Amino acid sequence: MEKIEKLSDSSIKEIERFKGLYPNRNSAVLMVLHVVHQQFGFLDREALREAAEIMELPYIDFQQAASFYTLFPNKPMGKYHIQVCRTLACHLRGAEELTALLKKILGIGIGEVTNDGLFSLSEVECLGSCGTAPVMQINEIYYENLTRARVDEILDDLRKKARNG
Ligand code: FES
Repeated sequence: MEKIEKLSDSSIKEIERFKGLYPNRNSAVLMVLHVVHQQFGFLDREALREAAEIMELPYIDFQQAASFYTLFPNKPMGKYHIQVCRTLACHLRGAEELTALLKKILGIGIGEVTNDGLFSLSEVECLGSCGTAPVMQINEIYYENLTRARVDEILDDLRKKARNG
């Protein structure tokens, strides 16, 4: 049976570049996870195996690194992946209520995706912006000093953005 390759040509090229970058190839494991995450929006298992083969490193090295970072989900997430910080500063400034509000509005639990595939929800550790708690990250963007009204506004904007392509 013919082997199906999942990594795109540009991902393969990028991973091959990382392979020659460090004397110890393990130093590039995180960068490789980024490449796979970038292509799929999550860590596709077969793609990660391909990446491990290219790097000539054991697949387990990638699995272990991935398990430390909530940044790298291992299953498909929503078009907009919402990550709410639950660490101390955010906790003290209402992160729990924020998560409860998002669950209610979106009708999903932690780790779930809305039926339309638009939103998914996670809780994560400190996002490094404690002074502007409570904080959430949606894809690459941080949203800070969140209030209920601001959350409604953000979700509305994203829904509109998705509708307009
Ligand atoms: S505790 Fe939430 S950003 Fe640091």
